[in-house]
Amino acid sequence: MIAVLGSANIDLVFQVERLPRFGETIAGKSYNRFPGGKGANQAAACGRLRADVVFLGKVGDDPFGEELLRSLQNSGVNVDYVKREEGVYTGTTAIFVSPSGENAILYLAGANRHVDEAYVDTVLDVIMSSSVLLMQFEIPITTIAYLLRKLPPAKPLVILDPAPAYSLSSLPTNRIDIITPNVTELESLTGTSNVEIGGKKLLNTGVKHVICKVGEEGAWLIARDQIRHFPSFHVPVVDTTAAGDAFNGALAVALAEGLSLEEGIVWGNAAGALACTRRGAQPSLPFREEVEKFLALYKYK
Ligand code: RIB
Repeated sequence: MIAVLGSANIDLVFQVERLPRFGETIAGKSYNRFPGGKGANQAAACGRLRADVVFLGKVGDDPFGEELLRSLQNSGVNVDYVKREEGVYTGTTAIFVSPSGENAILYLAGANRHVDEAYVDTVLDVIMSSSVLLMQFEIPITTIAYLLRKLPPAKPLVILDPAPAYSLSSLPTNRIDIITPNVTELESLTGTSNVEIGGKKLLNTGVKHVICKVGEEGAWLIARDQIRHFPSFHVPVVDTTAAGDAFNGALAVALAEGLSLEEGIVWGNAAGALACTRRGAQPSLPFREEVEKFLALYKYK
């Protein structure tokens, strides 16, 4: 089983030519509302790849919370342990998507802020019985530090997506098996966007493997014994939102199924590429059949 501990948000998505400046009003092109949140997206990515996956987190007692639970269930995610926090709004974002599919995200934590140590205690058994634990930084970092300190040394395998970037200094980094920053996050965490130098700096903190996602160039694996590039799959990009989440979800599923780290990265690149071809966060996440077909097609070329 894969456990995903993290955020759930409703994304208010605006298609824009450019971002407005302070004091300025500009016309957007269109608007949509999608279920999102890095944690929920990663859980949905696992569910759509037909993994046994449980999402652990909180939503508010508002209609957005309902909508998120329904979306997760429709993607095959177990939401039995999600808590609806009374009197609190569900995490919400404003996402601005440019004509080339790039995005800028404004995040309001809402109920995600309440994913605290007491909540972790209530779901610890579920986490301990999972083979892979996936986390991101849209919940309090104190919660992540607390949980990492409670985990036994080897199981579950811990994958941390350090997004949005936040200092790792309070975390027991030697309990992180795989960290998956993109280049912007790598630079915030290490002071350099050079994948090899930044990746090695992260390894020096005790993290076991670094997988750096480099957008349309694919991903790099930086480990103590190797550094290797995995090229991306070229697709028509419509919206890059949740491409990183698709990558993390697919990586977790591959590893939970006993595939190698290298195979997991190829799965991640495929799922990430497919997610870029559709709009929105959770609606863009690919199903298992699509990823398998896509990988088979690429192998024959
Ligand atoms: O990674 C994409 C996600 O980041 C969006 O769904 C948004 O909710 C933000 O959390």
